[in-house]
Amino acid sequence: MATAPLIAPSILSADFAKLGDEIRAIDAAGCDWIHVDVMDGHFVPNITIGPAVVKALRPHTDKPFDVHLMISPVDTYLDAFAEAGADIITVHPEAGPHIHRTLQHIRSLGKKAGVVLNPATHENTLDYIIDDVDLVLVMSVNPGFGGQSFIDSQLRKIEAIRRKITDTGRDIHLEVDGGVDAQTAPLAIGAGADVLVAGTATFRGGPGKYAENIKALKGL
Ligand code: DX5
Ligand code: ZN
Repeated sequence: MATAPLIAPSILSADFAKLGDEIRAIDAAGCDWIHVDVMDGHFVPNITIGPAVVKALRPHTDKPFDVHLMISPVDTYLDAFAEAGADIITVHPEAGPHIHRTLQHIRSLGKKAGVVLNPATHENTLDYIIDDVDLVLVMSVNPGFGGQSFIDSQLRKIEAIRRKITDTGRDIHLEVDGGVDAQTAPLAIGAGADVLVAGTATFRGGPGKYAENIKALKGL
């Protein structure tokens, strides 16, 4: 039997007026990681949260903080997010001039390094950096907003990346972000993903529904 995927709720869909409570609720409901979407209104057309909020949330759970940086420049903020309590820091190649250096910097801070590919970014972008990453994130929507529809063409990319990961012989996570719900989750997992980000599909219905929502995403 296939292993259930890890679920990383995106707190972008949480109630921002009570983020600490929301994080405790998804932790208790059985999530695996906490996905934190950081947006700057420049790299993407939306503004969300910064390192001070990550730091304030850190005491509310022991689960890994999966911090997705949609900011440019990105290098100048890596230390701040690491100090704030990020466990995984994921960056877009388009967000800085030297992605290899950025990934090395993240690892030098003792954090897991992730690279994220936009819908139009080719999987071959990974070819000379795959040894420097612990996670590959495939955007199945254009970054910037929650609640968008899953872009089916990304399934082929997930399959291609899974093959590349298998070739390395290393245990690199393959995560999918955007439009993931109980219908699209099995497609992403079937294509080779092992971590699912889900904002809308986790937080829908309020705290009383979180456990049920997470179970549905895991296919349980
Ligand atoms: C988009 C973010 C996502 C997204 C997920 O830029 O990276 O994490 O908000 O939201 P849903 O699950 O609602 O598509
Ligand atoms: Zn994200």
